[in-house]
Amino acid sequence: MKTQHLPWKEFSRYLEVPEQGLNFLKEAKELASEKGFFLYLAGGPVRDALLKRASRDLDLVLEGNWEVLLPELLAKTKGELLFKSQFLTYKLRLPQGFTIDLVTARRETYTGVASLPIVEPADHKADILRRDFTINALIYGLTLPFEEEVVDLVSGLKDLSEGKICPLHRDSFIEDPTRAFRGVRYKVRLSFNYAGDFYLALERAKEVEAFEKLSPPRLAQELKLFFSKEPLENLFKLIEDSDALNLFELSLLKKRALKSSDIDILGLAIKELKPKDREKFFLLFLIELEEKSLARLGFFPPEREKILKVYKIFTKEYLENLDILERVEAFEKLPSYVLLRLALEENLRHTIMEFWNTLRHIKPHLSGHDLKALGVEEGKKVGLILREIRRRKLKGEIKTLKEEKELVKALLFRDF
Ligand code: CTP
Repeated sequence: MKTQHLPWKEFSRYLEVPEQGLNFLKEAKELASEKGFFLYLAGGPVRDALLKRASRDLDLVLEGNWEVLLPELLAKTKGELLFKSQFLTYKLRLPQGFTIDLVTARRETYTGVASLPIVEPADHKADILRRDFTINALIYGLTLPFEEEVVDLVSGLKDLSEGKICPLHRDSFIEDPTRAFRGVRYKVRLSFNYAGDFYLALERAKEVEAFEKLSPPRLAQELKLFFSKEPLENLFKLIEDSDALNLFELSLLKKRALKSSDIDILGLAIKELKPKDREKFFLLFLIELEEKSLARLGFFPPEREKILKVYKIFTKEYLENLDILERVEAFEKLPSYVLLRLALEENLRHTIMEFWNTLRHIKPHLSGHDLKALGVEEGKKVGLILREIRRRKLKGEIKTLKEEKELVKALLFRDF
């Protein structure tokens, strides 16, 4: 075991955490000291402080029982307990909205390939040894016996200085294949390289088909992090590097060939879709639209069927043969994440973008209510006239409110 002294003042320079978060750490540290518990930060914040990179996450771990500290800690910091998990982790919210995760030092025992581990409270050594990579297995003590010390059990400091991504043991990816994707993220984010053991761990995971056994929700969750946790400019590299390791194929996903123009549509999705739809778009962005890949990413049968059906029907010829209003209505019926995904197909891109950027905003000024006031009798006819107004507006034949009203008068006595 190696330890390295690092004054709190220096360590905390890289914590981009609001004042209330730092204050929380101070209170937690005092209470843990009083009770004789070892409290430490682990993973991301330690790695990043040593690399002199800013870190916003606090992975705060206690070798001891949080339940003993929580009542006083919550009272002192005016925090609110939001959630307690079966894995002895707690989520708190501080008064100004900052949320913090509390973790209990734990051992993880894996019983099958790519299955979730059995978790039990343990000492800091077991908690270090359960982790993915040596660079993520460094801890920084806030209380005795390692106050203001970096504790290194697994040559994390050496790998950090050499820029190496090294799993803690060669069965690491058998236990948790998502770690291979995590490794790609750290490689790209930090411009590091894989250690030899990374490739060995990958080979062993391949031998037991660990990636195939990863459940759809876990695979999807991990891939979403390419978009949500990493800078957008790294995205293509993340996908390319995963592909270079064959990770998509091993996970039974058919990766889509990327084009530089995809980034524009991705930008639209980020800007304009609701969070849940955005996540689904991200997943669809990665793959070819085919049954197996959709199922692997957790899309349920009715959703898969719907996506595959429109993908099959919506050829360029089919859409061009539709009347402009029918086309707009067909697009409007689709969930926006499906529509933007279809826009990534070269032959559909122009038609869908024309709809997305312009046509979908073209609607009648007049409402059904206005039509009744203009003498249209209540019922089916109102809807039909409104559609006709929209059709002519889409075609550019009419523009103004006056022209709409004139059209209504002309259509008033027409049979539909
Ligand atoms: N971890 C792990 N295996 C996983 C996920 C997480 O061993 N599949 C451990 C790692 O030690 C990691 C810590 O849990 O450092 C916290 O996970 P996470 O918050 O995802 O990563 P960070 O280290 O905080 O890194 P970052 O958020 O910067 O990617």
